[in-house]
Parts: sequence; structure tokens; C-alpha cells
Amino acid sequence: MSAIPYNSIPLVKGLPLVGNLPKFLRDPLANAQSLEVHGNVVRSRTFFETVTLLGPEANQFVLHDREGNFSSRGGWYYWIDAVFPGAIMAMDDPAHKHHRRIMQGAFKRAAMERYVADMGPVIERVVDGWPSGGMKVFPQIKALTLNIAARVFMGMALGPEADRMNQAFIDTVEASLALIRKPVPPFGMWRGVRARRFLVALMRSKLAEKRAAEGPDLFSQLCHARGEDGERFSDDEVVNHMIFLMMAAHDTTTSTLTTMFYCLARHPDWQERLRQDAQALPEAQLRYESLAVCERTEWVMKESLRLYPPLTSIPRKAARDCEFGGFQIPRGTPVGISPIHTHHMPSLWTKPQDFDPERFSPARAEHRRHAYAYLPFGGGAHLCIGQHFADMEVKSVMHQVLRRFRFSVPEGYRMPYQLVPIAKPRDGLPITLQRL
Ligand code: HEM
Repeated sequence: MSAIPYNSIPLVKGLPLVGNLPKFLRDPLANAQSLEVHGNVVRSRTFFETVTLLGPEANQFVLHDREGNFSSRGGWYYWIDAVFPGAIMAMDDPAHKHHRRIMQGAFKRAAMERYVADMGPVIERVVDGWPSGGMKVFPQIKALTLNIAARVFMGMALGPEADRMNQAFIDTVEASLALIRKPVPPFGMWRGVRARRFLVALMRSKLAEKRAAEGPDLFSQLCHARGEDGERFSDDEVVNHMIFLMMAAHDTTTSTLTTMFYCLARHPDWQERLRQDAQALPEAQLRYESLAVCERTEWVMKESLRLYPPLTSIPRKAARDCEFGGFQIPRGTPVGISPIHTHHMPSLWTKPQDFDPERFSPARAEHRRHAYAYLPFGGGAHLCIGQHFADMEVKSVMHQVLRRFRFSVPEGYRMPYQLVPIAKPRDGLPITLQRL
């Protein structure tokens, strides 16, 4: 039987002119769930007409993609190319394969051990300065992850140079998400393009030093990384990758830590369990060898990422004519999958709305019910290269926080959050910290 033509895919029109965009921005989960009523292949208009493919099979079809049906470049170009040219996430094969092989060199075990060792003192210094009493989590975590990046990515000491770089970096990231896509003053894209120029100049000024001797920071590691045949990055490629890596790492990890704070503040029993685990370890700063011991922290991290995945949807463009669910998807069609929707499917998860970290325990392993049931880090060729790095950073921060503080939110508090472009609290997440 031949596939049903594209034009017969159910179309959810939404509001005149803006389509489903307001609904998507307000609540991407509710938006995807309202599309699902029409099936698992649905057309709708957010920024432009997109076909949303829903469920684990759809995720596998799009991300596993051995046939080369989908272009990551086509999906991401519009969003990131102006401020993140040369980003690996917006590359397709063969360029993607070539760059990924070399980049992998900066994430080998020896390098990772040094990253963990280097982030410990930064975390200690920042977290030690947190006040007892009221604190907004989001801005503090944002400052912390920026300072970690300055040290671990760039090899910089904390101070005015790191502060200037952090601000330029914030402007660049904001531009990638700006609604006005032209660099017109005083709007975000203009600030972002200016900030990018600053970052490029800063990194270029340090290239010779980073190339001269291999240091422990990610910048130096990228300069010295080699592919299997000895190939390495050019200067421009190192700079482009550095700027993109900082952005890929920053908001995502900030979001994850913030939602973990929220979940642990609302579930003090879990907070206490994790604190016991942290206190059972002898070290004040987490060591690489202890990462595997933080099993329950890992479940909580996974559960927070299930409920609030920083990337709620993943875009692609059809690179060739293909079919899914009995429908034709012509070359050039914008296609999206929705991790947040899959993470809430009752057919995959027990009581999906509940915070229940033990669903990730070996005994229950709900995330193994389908290879693409759980995908906060994506999957396939573009699977997040920093997944292990994020795990290290989150565990290192939580280890030090839990050993120093107990934290809470008032009874009945619910975090008002925005999920697009990246999950974050609208109120900064006010908590009460109590020094132990
Ligand atoms: C909890 C934190 C993080 C989350 C949830 C996350 C999520 C993701 C997702 C969903 C993708 C796939 C996008 C796609 O397929 O289109 C991705 C790709 C990527 N991530 Fe992450 N990420 C996180 C942390 C990091 C960190 C810490 C780094 C770097 C140190 C990083 C670097 C990258 C890079 C370079 C890519 C592109 C890989 C490629 O195209 O081959 N991420 N990330």
C-alpha cells in the first residue's frame, strides 16, 4: 500500500497568523499532547509549518537515521548559524563525522579526570559564599556554571577577565534564542553578534599559548585533539567549537541543576538520602573515582531531566523523501520530535507526572522500556557529546551543596517555569538555605 500524501497529514491550524506558537511557547508538553489527539504524525505551525512525529518509534526513526533521511543542519541552521557558525550540531555527514571524531579526543577519560579535579575548587569558592537564608537558585547556579566554564573550559582564574567573558557569552546565547533574527540595534541579535566578535578575539589571543603546550582545560584539549588518522582542528575550527561548546554546556547544565534543586526542595526525603550518600564519601570535593558511587544522585538527575528536559523538542529537516506512520514526508519538510512528550507517555512510565527517581533503579529501569523512551541528551550520531561531562558537573555541585546546606521551599510552592527555549523558573526559584 502506498503512503498517504503529505497534504493529508492531520493539520492543527491553531490561531490565525501565529498558529500554535503561543501554545508551544507557553507549554510545549501540553502542546504536544494536544497534537497527539490527531495521531503520531501531525502538522502544525509554530515558527513555520512543521511535522511533529510523536513517540519512541518516531524518535528512533529521526535520530537513529541510518538511511540519512534527516539533516541536523537543516533543523538547526536557522537558530544558531548567526552566532554559532561552524557548530557541530548543525553539521551533516561527512563533515559531522570528521569533526566528531576529533572532538571526542577532548572528552577522553584522562581529560575528564582533570576537568573534575579543576571544577572542585571553583565550586567550593562559589558555594561557600552562598548566604544562609533566602536565595534565588537560578541566578546563583548560572553564575556558578559560568565560573566553572571559565576555569575548566578556558583555564581562566576567576576575576574581571572571566566576568567580561561570561557577559559576552550570555549575550551570545541570548541572541541564539532571539525572536528578531536580524542584527539590528539595540536588539538581542545585534548584541549577540557584537559579543561573538569579542569572544572570537579573546580566544584567538590565547590560541598560540594553548597550542604551545597541552594543558588540562577544554580549550587546550581541543587544540591538541587528534582524529584516528591524526587529523586536527584548524584555528578557526577550535574557536567555533569552543564558543558552541560553552553554549551547549551552559544553559542545559544550569537548567538541570535548577530543576534538581526544585525537586529536592519539594522532596526532603530524597534530599536527605542524597545528603547521606554525599556525607558517606570522605572527600570534600568529589573525585572522578567516586562518580559511580553517587547512584541515587544520578537517579534524581535523570528524573529531573525526564520531567524538565532542557531541550523539549529537537528539530531536523527531511534531507530526502521518506515515510513514517504511513505518511509521506517530502524532502525539505521541517520535522520535530518531542522528548518531553515521550517522557510523559503513560504507556512508558508509571504515573509519569510523579517525581519518582527510583524508576531509574536497576530493579525498575523504566527508561529501558524502549531504546528511545528517554532522550534528554538526544540520540544517534548527534547524541550529546557532553553527557558525561554534565553528569560530572551536576554530581560535583550537588556533592558540595548537600554537605553544606539543607534547602527548602514553602509547603505548597510550585515552580512557575518556562520550558522554551530552555527549562527555567520564571521566579528564579526562591529557596531557604540552612547551613549545616
Ligand atoms: C544536562 C545537560 C545537557 C543536556 C540536557 C544536553 C542535551 C543535548 C541534546 C538533546 C543534544 C542533541 C541535539 C540534537 O540532536 O539536535 C546535545 C548535543 C550536544 N551537546 Fe549537549 N546537553 C547537555 C550538556 C552538554 C555539555 C556539558 C556539553 C559540553 C561539554 C554539551 C555539548 C554538546 C554538543 C557539542 C552537542 C552536539 C553533538 C553533535 O552534534 O555531534 N552538552 N546536547
